[in-house]
Amino acid sequence: TGLVTYDPALANTAATASAVTYLDGEQGILRYRGYSIEDLAEGASFVETSYLLIYGELPTKEQHDSFSRALSEHSLLHEDMKRFYDGYPMTAHPMAILSAMVNSLSTFYPEAQDSLNPVERERTIVRLLSKLRTIAAFAYKKLHGEPFVYPQNNLSYCANLLHMMFALPTEPYEVDEDLVQVLNQLLILHADHEQNCSTHTVRTVGSAQTNLFASISAGINALWGVLHGGANQAVVEMLEEIHADGGDVRKYIELAKDKNSSFRLMGFGHRVYKNYDPRARIIKDAAYRVFDKLGIHDPLLEIALKLEETALSDSYFTDRKLYPNVDFYSGLIYRAMGIPTNFFTVMFSLGRLPGWIAHWKEQIEDPSRRITRPRQLYTGPEARTFVPLSERG
Ligand code: CMC
Repeated sequence: TGLVTYDPALANTAATASAVTYLDGEQGILRYRGYSIEDLAEGASFVETSYLLIYGELPTKEQHDSFSRALSEHSLLHEDMKRFYDGYPMTAHPMAILSAMVNSLSTFYPEAQDSLNPVERERTIVRLLSKLRTIAAFAYKKLHGEPFVYPQNNLSYCANLLHMMFALPTEPYEVDEDLVQVLNQLLILHADHEQNCSTHTVRTVGSAQTNLFASISAGINALWGVLHGGANQAVVEMLEEIHADGGDVRKYIELAKDKNSSFRLMGFGHRVYKNYDPRARIIKDAAYRVFDKLGIHDPLLEIALKLEETALSDSYFTDRKLYPNVDFYSGLIYRAMGIPTNFFTVMFSLGRLPGWIAHWKEQIEDPSRRITRPRQLYTGPEARTFVPLSERG
């Protein structure tokens, strides 16, 4: 096939150069723009981290204030967009609502189509960062049959999200600062992960000069898949099933090892991490903190711990270097915070948004960019003679 290389699932292909995120899967290192994930999770806010990913540097105090102000200015949705929510059934998966709403933003802000115009690009970026949070919170309200709660711009990014999701007009709602802190940390840990499936999707769609809203909408759909962001929902569903089935962890470990079964241990394994996932370590600590703070005793946490311990003492998992990934404990935290299971991947999307934006921006600003257009190995029939329908019998 001449110069064409065959690399299914692009497992060994660097499809792009990127200055956003450094990942060493052997050593378990993850850095955004050179800063370790541990330091950022410990000391930065999600808004600062977003700025860092998108613009390449941590913001100065002044840059931070003006970025936060811009996010506040754009936090409302066009009133007409509220009506879209009426059309969805109460049982709708919120990821479908999320991607449709983000795509719909292109109809309200057609100037986003001018991706090559730096002024429009910046405006679109801030708009989307702010509005995705409102879109997500309204989806939550719709699925609970509750009235929408508008953003309150004196609140921080994460506090505002919790407020829009959980406040009711009938009673005062006090945002719990500890939960804000944990949410902040979770969103930072999810903020970027170099060329994962959804980010690659965003870059690919963006390479056709497709506007940011439409490109991110595609990324949201990619993230929804159970092998990607959908794993956080699948983990808790799996833990619920094990719990309902009497808590026999070993049975599920055996099932995951059985090559005749399609069952996989959700939240385990990673294409790139072959030692441990540094995000999982931080998240596990955060899970303990949240459970302590809320005084929650969740039997699913015990099952998760038992599952992890049993898997890590089994050669099937250690030989294949399968360790808990970021999704193994994140769902348990969201659950403790009162977030419903089918909403976990929406939370992941909110976290991943600055990473997607950073990659979309990086590719559109690259003077040597070209449309993504991989090759294939053709495996179909040789040339055949066409027989008209009337003669085909
Ligand atoms: N349970 C049981 N066996 C597994 C698992 C698992 N979770 N993951 C991989 N394996 C086995 C797989 O069967 C294969 O075995 P063999 O060599 O005998 O055929 C071997 O390990 C390598 O697996 P692979 O499918 O070639 O690995 P991959 O790099 O293509 O897939 C993965 C990576 C994350 C999709 C996969 O590990 C998986 O399906 N995990 C469960 C879903 C999950 O937790 N996804 C979240 C990923 S992290 C966050 C994110 O991306 O959003």
